[in-house]
Amino acid sequence: MDRKHLLGIPEIDVQHAAICELLAALRNAIALDDQRHLIHPALKRLHHLLATHFTYEEEMMRMMNYPDLQQHTKSHNKVLLLLKTYFDHPLAPGDHDAFGKAIHDKLSAHIVEHDTSMHAMIGPRVKVAPRGQ
Ligand SMILES: [Fe+2]
Ligand SMILES: [Fe+2]
Repeated sequence: MDRKHLLGIPEIDVQHAAICELLAALRNAIALDDQRHLIHPALKRLHHLLATHFTYEEEMMRMMNYPDLQQHTKSHNKVLLLLKTYFDHPLAPGDHDAFGKAIHDKLSAHIVEHDTSMHAMIGPRVKVAPRGQ
């Protein structure tokens, strides 16, 4: 996992690491012809992992009266919508690469833009390690 994705909130860093690991496995399944049968199960697992992770973050932000909860939740929902679109309309094999990249980029941007802001506000209020350590 890239250091820029580390928040210093241990529970969330562990969840992000699991998500990044699954994303890497997904990109691998997309890249290798004989691994294509693993794409759908990987996306199912990713959806489950993200839904659980997003609920955890939203609950934490709610408890802290986090002012950007609504915007942050909207961004979570956009990521889940991307996956829902896939489940509603499965892709042609040639479109998997672009889809895998879109999911990766959207999640990475979410962590950098929204999750790191959450750390900036929640970090001083709970005992957490400094970012990137
Ligand atoms: Fe988030
Ligand atoms: Fe997150």
